[in-house]
Amino acid sequence: MKTIIKILNELNRTEVINEAAAVIRQGGIVAFPTETVYGLGANALDPEAVKKIFIAKGRPQDNPLIIHVASKDLSPYVETVPTVAEKLMDAFWPGPLTLILKKKALIPDVTSAGLATVGVRMPKHDVALALISAAGVPIAAPSANRSGRPSPTSVEHCINDLDGRVDFILGADRSEVGLESTIVDCTVTPPCILRPGGIALEQLQAIEPTIYFPGSTKAVEGTPKAPGMKYRHYAPIAPLKIVHGVQELQDELLKHQKQGLKVGVLATEESLPLYQNEIVISLGHRNHLEEVGHKLYDALRLMDELGVEIILVEEFPEIGIGKAIMNRLKKAQQKDSQ
Ligand code: TXA
Ligand code: MG
Repeated sequence: MKTIIKILNELNRTEVINEAAAVIRQGGIVAFPTETVYGLGANALDPEAVKKIFIAKGRPQDNPLIIHVASKDLSPYVETVPTVAEKLMDAFWPGPLTLILKKKALIPDVTSAGLATVGVRMPKHDVALALISAAGVPIAAPSANRSGRPSPTSVEHCINDLDGRVDFILGADRSEVGLESTIVDCTVTPPCILRPGGIALEQLQAIEPTIYFPGSTKAVEGTPKAPGMKYRHYAPIAPLKIVHGVQELQDELLKHQKQGLKVGVLATEESLPLYQNEIVISLGHRNHLEEVGHKLYDALRLMDELGVEIILVEEFPEIGIGKAIMNRLKKAQQKDSQ
């Protein structure tokens, strides 16, 4: 398939967004920017179009998609909007927060992977919002990476993964947040975080104190999970290991270097002086976790391009967006693919 690639600028903006919206309306698939990561979109109401997303990504069919909307009126798509969901929408939409709600029959089974619920998000990105409005339909979109790879935070990442596999790639700026949205299940009481992301637990609890993250306490038996979280995810090609503290880091470095492996380290500005001969990428300052989140996926992809054989990464505190950062690193560390 020939992929049309267009990079937005001030002159071509309206024309290119309209062109991409027409592809969506005609049942094609389009990679587009959001503030979290780039998405791979199709008309959420068109089962044949949505199927193309699964094929292009190599995504398991049991993994439901988030629908992206440009308005807070969800009545066409969901049965009810509980008070808690309304409060969260008022506080954080548009923004990196996905709400799980009971779906209406208008949302096809292939979009929700047969679940009775659907994830809905209003992205905080003017291009994404303009694209959804111009298309005139909700846009179903997972992250625009090949399944299992780190999510794309730039148009180059989308091109690397999807050129020749999708109809259109719409390029703009680098994704500001750099990590996916937080997913909150609003069909259960109390509401439960299925995936930590761009909105921190602390921010959510300031609006609704009962919200909890099972990963941070003890996982409750039978708690519904985001199906996608069971797969190895966000993963570079090289194995990744999280190290705790300077001593473990130096022990690990020595061990792998003795084995003759090409080691890559994801470090922070503060720890840079510790390294000499290794391949080192700084994720920014240790106490500026937003910067770390913004840079993480790009750094993981860069490590692959540099051909490292093992990636060591320093642990980050699980406060604020640190929870999402550590969640992604732990998933990337998982060895099995399912
Ligand atoms: O920031 C984001 O959320 C990005 C951008 C493009 O919006 N999208 C994204 O989509 O990360 P994806 O498909 O890569 O991840 C969506 C996650 C998956 O783990 C999926 O299983 C879960 O959301 N999910 C979707 N619908 C669900 C539902 N109805 N119930 C439970 N989990 C759901
Ligand atoms: Mg994804």
